Amino acid sequence: MPTIRPDVAAIGPYVPGRSIEEVAADIGMAPGEIVKLASNESPDGPFPGVVEAATKALAEASRYPDDNLRALTVALSGFLGVPADHLWFGNGSVGLIGHIASAVGGPGTSAVYAWPSFIMYRIATRLAMSDAIEVPLDEDHTHDLEAVRAALRPDTTLVYLCNPNNPTGTVVSADAVSAFIDSVPEQTLVVIDEAYHDYVTDQRYATAVPEALRRPNVLVLRTFSKIFALAGHRVGYAVGRPETILELRKAQPPFTVGQVAQAAAAASLQDRGELERRKMANEAARHHLQGVLAERSLPHTDSQANFVYFELGFGAEEAAELFTRRGVIVRPMSGGWLRVTVGSEEENRRFVEALNQILDV
Ligand SMILES: Cc1ncc(COP(=O)(O)O)c(C=O)c1O
Repeated sequence: MPTIRPDVAAIGPYVPGRSIEEVAADIGMAPGEIVKLASNESPDGPFPGVVEAATKALAEASRYPDDNLRALTVALSGFLGVPADHLWFGNGSVGLIGHIASAVGGPGTSAVYAWPSFIMYRIATRLAMSDAIEVPLDEDHTHDLEAVRAALRPDTTLVYLCNPNNPTGTVVSADAVSAFIDSVPEQTLVVIDEAYHDYVTDQRYATAVPEALRRPNVLVLRTFSKIFALAGHRVGYAVGRPETILELRKAQPPFTVGQVAQAAAAASLQDRGELERRKMANEAARHHLQGVLAERSLPHTDSQANFVYFELGFGAEEAAELFTRRGVIVRPMSGGWLRVTVGSEEENRRFVEALNQILDV
């Protein structure tokens, strides 16, 4: 066994949602009968034109990809209305989180984030050898920004704000985010993770991109893995000041986004009507699922994302296992809560059917 850094050895491995094949073999069902609602993936395929664009790019496989991602940068810059030099791409937004954590972290620093929130903040903080300061969400499962602010130490170089928050789906308002940013010292980087931005319908929410465009200590993270349905291609991006991006990029190896992924992401930006359609479909299905939970008087949050967070009243692992045995994979979270991704109509029907069976035994 090679010598592993003790702080790395102490990290629990990232546990992805269980795969369809694994569960199918476990419970003796055909893979086609299993519904996976554990990883917040899109129930829809890629956007129109994406497969064609990606297939064409495949022919360039012998070449390294464009490390400046020119075509994708031009497409995204136009789509967002953001100058091209304010964009930074990575191998999924988790790739960027790792680079950011190592660029601003290290021994003698700390990173602050809410808990429960996206597990990669914890893992990246530990890998960067920074202290992790985890601030409990409030009783509504929402960021307690005053408590987050109070947890900042003189050695804090990084603070994450997941908006909407994974796994709770809760949002903090645009005003609260701006006031929070105002209160953070300029030498502390504020990373606002908006992976689920495109699903939000709550009018109190707004993107923090305008803040990221003018403040060197603010970055907004987004991804093509959710509403754009490209989780398998691994493309995420950050919006921020060019001078900040230039420094952070030093922690990133070259060629982290392949040309097929670049082409697929660029082609995804061509159809705003489809984006709106998917957003509305997600909202309707989310509303339906939350309505079912409400009818059953099951505690749940007002999720603004493509997942719903709820409690059955007994252990999360045990509850998830009961769903799994009925061919529905959901994600057990801490404190007895579960997270289920908003799926297709049929997938949601299967979830509700399993829920009813579990509750009515
Ligand atoms: C809050 C949050 N940020 C980032 C990601 C990862 O996105 P990507 O697929 O771009 O790495 C996820 C994925 O579930 C997430 O929930």
